[in-house]
Order: sequence, then C-alpha cells, then structure tokens
Amino acid sequence: MNESPSPDVPLLEARHIKKSFQNQAKKEVRVLSDANLEIGKGDLLGIIGASGTGKSTLLHILGGLDRPQAGQVFFEGQDIFSKSNGFLESFRNRHVGFVFQFFNLLSDFNALENVMMPALIGHRNPGSVRTEAERLLERVGLKERMQHKPGTLSGGECQRVALARSLINNPDLLLADEPTGNLDAKASEDFMQLVRELNEDHQQTFVIVTHSLKLAQSLNRTVQLQEGEIRNVDRDLLL
Ligand SMILES: Nc1ncnc2c1ncn2[C@@H]1O[C@H](COP(=O)(O)OP(=O)(O)OP(=O)(O)O)[C@@H](O)[C@H]1O
Ligand SMILES: [Mg+2]
Repeated sequence: MNESPSPDVPLLEARHIKKSFQNQAKKEVRVLSDANLEIGKGDLLGIIGASGTGKSTLLHILGGLDRPQAGQVFFEGQDIFSKSNGFLESFRNRHVGFVFQFFNLLSDFNALENVMMPALIGHRNPGSVRTEAERLLERVGLKERMQHKPGTLSGGECQRVALARSLINNPDLLLADEPTGNLDAKASEDFMQLVRELNEDHQQTFVIVTHSLKLAQSLNRTVQLQEGEIRNVDRDLLL
C-alpha cells in the first residue's frame, strides 16, 4: 500500500465475488454468486436490496472483514486477500472505517473510549487521539454524552458514536451498514449532511447500505444487490 496507485486505478474493486453460508440443515446457501463492483475515490455510493440479499455480507468482504470463497477485492490495485493477515489488519485499521448495522460498540467502555479505540490499536499518540475523538463526538452532537457507556445511550446515539469511531483514523473508505436505520428524520438528515461534507471536504469515499430509497436517491450513485449480483439502478426510478 506504499506505492502510489495510478490515477486510473479504482480505489476499490470487487471482481466475481462468491460467498455461501451453510444453513442449519448444513446445506450450502449461495448469497453472492458473481458480485462485481468498482468504487472510485470520492464516490458516494448507495447499495440497496431486499433483506437477506447479502448487503452486509458484501460490505464485510469489501472491508476485508470476511473472505469470499472465490473472487478478488483490490484496494488501490492490490489484491487484499492474496496478502498476509497482517496486511489485512493494517488495511482495515489505516484505510477503512466501518459503521456496523448493530453498532458493535464495546459495552464496558464509554463513548469517548470507543471512538479512541481504533486509533489506540494503531498506536497513535493517546493525547492527540483524545482531542480528535472529542472533536468528532462534538461534531456528531454528542458533546454531553462522551462519558456514557453504550448501555445508557439510545440507538441513534450509539449509531453516532459508531460514526465518530469510524472516522477516527481518517479512513479513505467508509463502509456504513444501515447507518440511519435507528435515527429519526432530523438525525438522519444531519448524518447525511455530515457524510456529504466529509465527502466534499476530504474526498472521503462512502459506501452506504440502506433500505431508505430517499437516502439512496440523495447519493451520487446507487446499485442494487439482487440474486447474488450487483445491478445498476436508475436513480430517477427510486422515488
Ligand atoms: N455467518 C453466517 N452464517 C450463516 N448464514 C449467514 C451468515 N451471515 C449471513 N448469513 C445469511 O446470508 C444471507 C445474507 O445475509 P446479510 O446479512 O448479508 O443480508 P442483508 O442483505 O444485509 O440483510 P438485511 O437487509 O436484513 O440486513 C441471509 O440469508 C443470512 O441468513
Ligand atoms: Mg444487513
């Protein structure tokens, strides 16, 4: 990841991704059959699709959290699954921010500590990490809630802590799974406003899985996961 990629190389590219799971009867269930996706630097991409079609599965594979049975994911031209586990770990820590569907916050740590965690894992200076984490929590409207543990925060507040955490390492790529699923209309709009600002100011790339067609419509590009494949969507038909 040290060489600079050619400007023609997409930030992330998934080619012919296949993924199956075993169901309870030990039968293989194919979720992704031939998923192909190109994501350019600065993209603001939405992924829609019915429940159970494999959106979370795809997002986990794009971020190197789960391996496909076949196919490749290239980050700046490098095949991430062909490298060592150490490479994958550093790829995730340095380049990717995740906002998970069910937050995945650490219940024994308060909001501030949760936000700081990925940066401390990356061995950054604790003092500057703390200042940055406080700034991010303030930016997502949680200045007064920094010392609260997840169990004493609402779903929407947890979602915002998760967003702040995903930004702490200033990632090139943010993968967000239903980030507004637990937010009310105003909080959803605030969240999307923040996403647009980060996208415009820092060229940060966002891939957002959503069931909200309104949200999908507001993004620059939307694709649909259907029958294990990625299909383009005419955004004018979304509303
Ligand atoms: N670890 C697993 N073991 C077995 N089956 C799994 C596993 N993870 C996902 N699945 C199955 O794969 C399918 C796709 O799941 P996934 O969570 O990717 O769907 P989704 O599109 O994100 O759905 P939703 O919109 O409801 O979040 C589902 O049928 C799910 O039950
Ligand atoms: Mg999901």
